[in-house]
Amino acid sequence: MEQKSLKDQIDLNKLPEHIAIIMDGNGRWAKNQGKERVYGHHNGVKSVREVTEAGAELGVKYMTLYAFSTENWNRPQAEVTALMALLIHTIKDELPTLNKNKIRLQAIGNLSMLPEDAQTELQEAIDGTKDNDRMTLVLALSYSAKWEIIEAVKDIASRAKNGELDITDIDENTISNALNTKGMPDPELMIRTSGETRISNFLLWQLAYAELYFTRTFWPDFRKQHLYEAILNFQNRERRFGMISEQLVEE
Ligand code: IPE
Ligand code: IPE
Ligand code: MG
Repeated sequence: MEQKSLKDQIDLNKLPEHIAIIMDGNGRWAKNQGKERVYGHHNGVKSVREVTEAGAELGVKYMTLYAFSTENWNRPQAEVTALMALLIHTIKDELPTLNKNKIRLQAIGNLSMLPEDAQTELQEAIDGTKDNDRMTLVLALSYSAKWEIIEAVKDIASRAKNGELDITDIDENTISNALNTKGMPDPELMIRTSGETRISNFLLWQLAYAELYFTRTFWPDFRKQHLYEAILNFQNRERRFGMISEQLVEE
């Protein structure tokens, strides 16, 4: 019998509804070829296109890509400038494709830190894709989970102070709804490329029960097949949520 392709082995009834990705290794990928780090960032765009398309084709509903962290502002100025320019061009160039594939764009993070033209371009793309319903692509930009949690705490505290919120009513939903990801399901699968095995201040609250998948592949080499491998790996895990195997009933 012919071997089933990776894609065909995926159980579409057990797809993660939300996949989060730390796109890492652009700089090392470029350095390995004797090129500048920025060359790696440019080549990472194709990987973004590939995973977005693959996710949408399979039926994944949300995909969150960590594109720029709060800490990344501390990189050399030239790299930060190049990344911002790349962001602006990419959003502009990809807008027709997002619409063609019915993908809605959203963003999380401290967006007011972005250069004004990036904010404008981003907002136009968010507004221009808001009615698309196949998949939501979330870009984490100038994002860090600790920043997001601090903002949520400020919001909750001020509502409690104003008397809009009773402190005894604070529960998981109060916090989830005060985060940038309000209304989105938590990611069930988090992928990090490049061999690093850390979270780097990404979605700390939302990843509480996510399955973590680490691959040595550098982000610019990441293709649809790599996403299929990660999803298959996810589907072969037993998610127990604190219970024991025998308690889990097959649906
Ligand atoms: C990820 O690749 C892209 C961003 C963080 C913007 P890196 O730029 O971190 O590449 P490495 O990890 O240094 O190789
Ligand atoms: C995490 O990657 C942030 C993004 C992918 C945008 P980094 O390369 O910045 O993280 P560290 O420095 O390895 O933790
Ligand atoms: Mg890195």
